[in-house]
Amino acid sequence: MYQYQVVIADLLSHPRVVETRNHMHHSIPKHDHMMRVVRYSYRIARLFRADRRTCARAAILHDLDSRLGTLANHGAIAAEVAASLGEPAEVSWAIISHMYPLGPRPTTREGWVLVVADKMASLTDMTAFVGGLFTGHSLRVRQSLRQTDPFYTPRRRRRRIRQFWRSIGRNRLGGRI
Ligand SMILES: [Fe+2]
Ligand SMILES: [Fe+2]
Repeated sequence: MYQYQVVIADLLSHPRVVETRNHMHHSIPKHDHMMRVVRYSYRIARLFRADRRTCARAAILHDLDSRLGTLANHGAIAAEVAASLGEPAEVSWAIISHMYPLGPRPTTREGWVLVVADKMASLTDMTAFVGGLFTGHSLRVRQSLRQTDPFYTPRRRRRRIRQFWRSIGRNRLGGRI
């Protein structure tokens, strides 16, 4: 077991973290994204002289319930989830600002670490997704996540489709639909 796994071992088996294996984020499992942020932030913490344990614990929780918020405010939602799981304030402070410059500016070293690690991980997520397109792996995974992610249940899907058509505007399509 790696050191970064040891400091989050209890969270790795927590149902709220385990279920993210079935949730989609950047077209990949959310768990993969959050583990990537854990690994990056654990390394970057050294450079920033930040607390590695706080960074790793913030990283594995930083996008929980992100679908309930917007790009700018889902950090605050995940920070509240972390607090409800019994994490100390330092962890929530780091999570709340991870979308900077969208959303609030970090107030702690650990917050800055999470900003950098999350941006790097998001780039790697996309690269990994595009790489997997050639073998069909990426689309297979995305398809199965659509089946397991509650955001994509049929009712939600219908609402998304309705919103899509409304946003296009029927008139612009010449009333053909
Ligand atoms: Fe996020
Ligand atoms: Fe993230």
